Amino acid sequence: MSRLAVVCGGSRGIGGAVALLLAERGCRVVVLSRDQDSARAAMEALPGGDHLSLSCDVSEEQEVQRSFETIQKTCGSVSYLVNAAGINRDSLLLRTPPHLMVSMLHTNLLGSMLTCRAALRSMLRPPGGAIVNIGSVVGLKGNAGQSVYSASKSGLQGFTRSLAKEVASRNVRVNLLLPGFIRTNMTEGLEDSERLIPLRRFGTGQEVAQAVLFLLESQYVTGAELLVDGGLHLSM
Ligand SMILES: NC(=O)c1ccc[n+]([C@@H]2O[C@H](COP(=O)([O-])OP(=O)(O)OC[C@H]3O[C@@H](n4cnc5c(N)ncnc54)[C@H](O)[C@@H]3O)[C@@H](O)[C@H]2O)c1
Repeated sequence: MSRLAVVCGGSRGIGGAVALLLAERGCRVVVLSRDQDSARAAMEALPGGDHLSLSCDVSEEQEVQRSFETIQKTCGSVSYLVNAAGINRDSLLLRTPPHLMVSMLHTNLLGSMLTCRAALRSMLRPPGGAIVNIGSVVGLKGNAGQSVYSASKSGLQGFTRSLAKEVASRNVRVNLLLPGFIRTNMTEGLEDSERLIPLRRFGTGQEVAQAVLFLLESQYVTGAELLVDGGLHLSM
């Protein structure tokens, strides 16, 4: 039986590449994203049939709840969850309005907590599953102009480690992937930053997706953090 994989933020960018690779590897994929049309378009482009798309704002508890109830009813138990929904607005703290702080924290951190919580209900019956949260090298190293974004991503580190401990006895693994500069909508216009990267280029969504797949499939890896950043952390 094929595995059911829910990819939050699966309509484009890193999540889109993850959804594609998982579909290519035979998973039944649920593309979950804020925008209904782009979620559906991404889902329809996946190889194989029987995939699902859902529009859901991951920062809204009731929407997350409803989405996972629909997934359970129509597709059954979730095997894999990938949290790739996220937003970033670069801004020095003194210039960051509180509403922007709230939306970054709610989407990047609270959103992953809500989807993990909803997916776990399904993963625990019968026990087993794997979760990959997408953090950032910035959560590890910090970056001027990204204090709030960085805090949301550092928060995912504590969250991932703690949740990994909570659910290991139920054979659910939880890992964190830390990308550097990856070529997506989020990094448009940042090409100058290539000189900071030891490998001298941005990564691709496909390269991140391969690492996500590794974490999903590695049966003896939990609570781990994997950097996929072309060596950027070495020079920050
Ligand atoms: N691109 C990079 O260089 C980079 C580096 C480090 C970390 N990341 C992280 O990787 C993840 C994916 O980033 P990306 O570069 O693919 O960005 P992207 O902007 O291309 O895609 C983001 C996806 O998240 C979805 N999304 C945003 N807010 C949402 C919400 N409230 N509810 C549901 N879906 C929502 C969007 O619809 C889209 O599908 C993010 O968490 C980002 O912080 C990206």
